[in-house]
Amino acid sequence: MSRKKSNKSKFKFQTLRGFKDILPEHQKFWDFVLKNVKETAQDYSYQKIDTPILESSALFERTVGKETDIVEKEMFSFEDRGGEKVTLRPELTASVARAYIEHGMISWSQPVKLWSWGPIFRYDKPQAGRYRQFYQFNFEVLGSSTPEIDSQIIIMASELYKSFGVEIDVQINSIGCPECRKEYIKLLKKYLRDKKMCATCKDRILKNPLRVLDCKEEKCKENLREAPQIIDSLCEECKNHFVKVLENLDESEVSYNLNPFLVRGLDYYNRTTFEFYAKGDEQATQGALGGGGRYDYLIEQINGRETPAVGFAGGVERVILKIKETGREIKSETQGDVFIAQLGEDAKKKCAKLFKDLRKENIKVKEAFSKTGLTDQLEIANKMKVRFALILGQKEIMDDTIIIRDMDSGIQEIINFEKIIPEIKKRLLGEGGVKIYNSN
Ligand code: HAM
Repeated sequence: MSRKKSNKSKFKFQTLRGFKDILPEHQKFWDFVLKNVKETAQDYSYQKIDTPILESSALFERTVGKETDIVEKEMFSFEDRGGEKVTLRPELTASVARAYIEHGMISWSQPVKLWSWGPIFRYDKPQAGRYRQFYQFNFEVLGSSTPEIDSQIIIMASELYKSFGVEIDVQINSIGCPECRKEYIKLLKKYLRDKKMCATCKDRILKNPLRVLDCKEEKCKENLREAPQIIDSLCEECKNHFVKVLENLDESEVSYNLNPFLVRGLDYYNRTTFEFYAKGDEQATQGALGGGGRYDYLIEQINGRETPAVGFAGGVERVILKIKETGREIKSETQGDVFIAQLGEDAKKKCAKLFKDLRKENIKVKEAFSKTGLTDQLEIANKMKVRFALILGQKEIMDDTIIIRDMDSGIQEIINFEKIIPEIKKRLLGEGGVKIYNSN
């Protein structure tokens, strides 16, 4: 029977530009990053919050800022069937702030510390480390204005990156409060008056002058070299706050670089701003691994009560690229300790029961019951990097025994079938301390 080929069948469906599948072979990196984020969050007493991926567009326009790249060019926005303008979240801070107000968290014990993990959407120009859907881990502390919280977040983030095995450079700045910024913007505009800046900068000078400091054009960077620095315009309170943050970092031996050009691409920040780069990536070719800052006015901007806050978010894909570059070996969470190999129909049946019994004892057990040959199965066991293979064939069934093979040494021993569970437990416990996994 001949199959009729239609045009439809020729169409090759693919992920959209800037979107990626996370294939099984990469999952161990994702598990590893999430596990470390979770542990850090628990150690620093953050509670987990998940917010919806879709929010009202106005939430981001109000907070991130109408004149930012994110809102102007990068949001995935559309009208839903009810005519409401909605947006796939381009970050998490605004959503967490919305949730803080919506659930009356102001009446909780302050500060409220929340962490999140999930996909973020920005219509960015896709390249290495820059995607249209990417994941962030996000930490927010709401309800505290003390500089100790700013420094604690930076210290926590440094430790988190260290736990990934990634060395980072901390860049830090203070962009003051709306009052001292007003003065600074006057100075900056005056300085830029006779400078030939790029078209984007010319536009920014009018709409959002601080962002000029962020321009990546060589000519603009050159022009800005002698620009007045915002730190010199800080009011007394903002200066004191910044000095305390830096003193705390010194005390905790977290090194940092003062970067007077670090203004960040989101409008809601005031006072401390910071970013994390992989060490040696001074040109920031792959972009920041994470960034954040203080945002004392955001909650009021979306009709909440005055609530000082500070937070940071890290990009998961970018940190995974770095972890891979370090060549660090990451153990898969699904990696087993024991592999069951079977030969023949009777063995298959007995092994299915043994598999169930080993699992019941919280032993990480693997199999390839669809295979028949021993060589095939041992090859799979090898790839799975298990410690032991249990081999059951016709002869062992007749003798009521089973072969236990140490996969490192290749040494095989025959033992009584009913002794296999205590024997495996003894070997796993004996070699690595706590080796039996509790699934609870
Ligand atoms: P952000 O700097 O826009 O900050 O993003 C944080 C991190 O997300 C970046 O440092 C980077 O690692 C990652 N990232 C950003 N864009 C992309 C992309 N297109 N592809 C891959 N990774 C990307 C924020 O989002 C703020 N909400 C952080 C914050 C929390 N501030 C206060 N609290």
